[in-house]
Amino acid sequence: MGWLRRCYLTVASEFSWRVPGRPQRLLGAFALAERGSMLDMFAAVEATKRRDMRKKYFHHGLDEGRHALIFAERVRAFGLLGRAEAAMEDSGQLLEAGIVGGQTLFERLGEPEFMAFVYVAEADAVEQFNVYLDRGLPDDATQAQLRAILKDEVFHVTYSRTEVDKYRKDGLPMDATMRKIRLRRVWERWLRFSRDFGSFTSGIWLSLLYFLVLGPFRLFGRLEAGGWHPVEGRAGDALALARSEG
Ligand SMILES: [Fe+2]
Ligand SMILES: [Fe+2]
Repeated sequence: MGWLRRCYLTVASEFSWRVPGRPQRLLGAFALAERGSMLDMFAAVEATKRRDMRKKYFHHGLDEGRHALIFAERVRAFGLLGRAEAAMEDSGQLLEAGIVGGQTLFERLGEPEFMAFVYVAEADAVEQFNVYLDRGLPDDATQAQLRAILKDEVFHVTYSRTEVDKYRKDGLPMDATMRKIRLRRVWERWLRFSRDFGSFTSGIWLSLLYFLVLGPFRLFGRLEAGGWHPVEGRAGDALALARSEG
């Protein structure tokens, strides 16, 4: 594990597990990521030309579906996200995963790069879960579920690494492919951070604007008297117009 990634995970994990409201957001994001992986795997079952991989993709998809349900159950245990927030996360995930983009991940990448992507993503997940468990951050029930999920994820890392090694032996540039995938994941993480940071700072600016600029106007404002008010001249004009048309 690179020291930079370790530092990032350590800081981010403290934030994610200790700040109220964040654990369920994190678990919700995991549930969506696992569901996205499940769909990617089932799409790969359909698209692959390799008969030897079909069964592996299918079982991998079933594992990810089970993980998605486990994480969703943990979200419910913590208290559900707001409906609007959950819907936004959901649509964001679907777009990011490219599931509604017309092409599946497997079709976009091709099988060797797809396998490298699976290896990198699964290895990252194993590192991330291990940091959480080493630091004892989640509650006991979530830790027990994470340990159970980790066993599956370690298997996913093992079989995908075996396949990446096979492609490398066949002469494909798998190291360059994995570097490209890692860079793309860093870039995507940066974009997600920028979006969250943008939402956070715009909230601060709008609050300041409200209290410092709009708020003082309330001191000078007063409510108008209620009810209908005759507008001078208008009633007569309308009557005259109606008569002329008649
Ligand atoms: Fe998983
Ligand atoms: Fe996995």
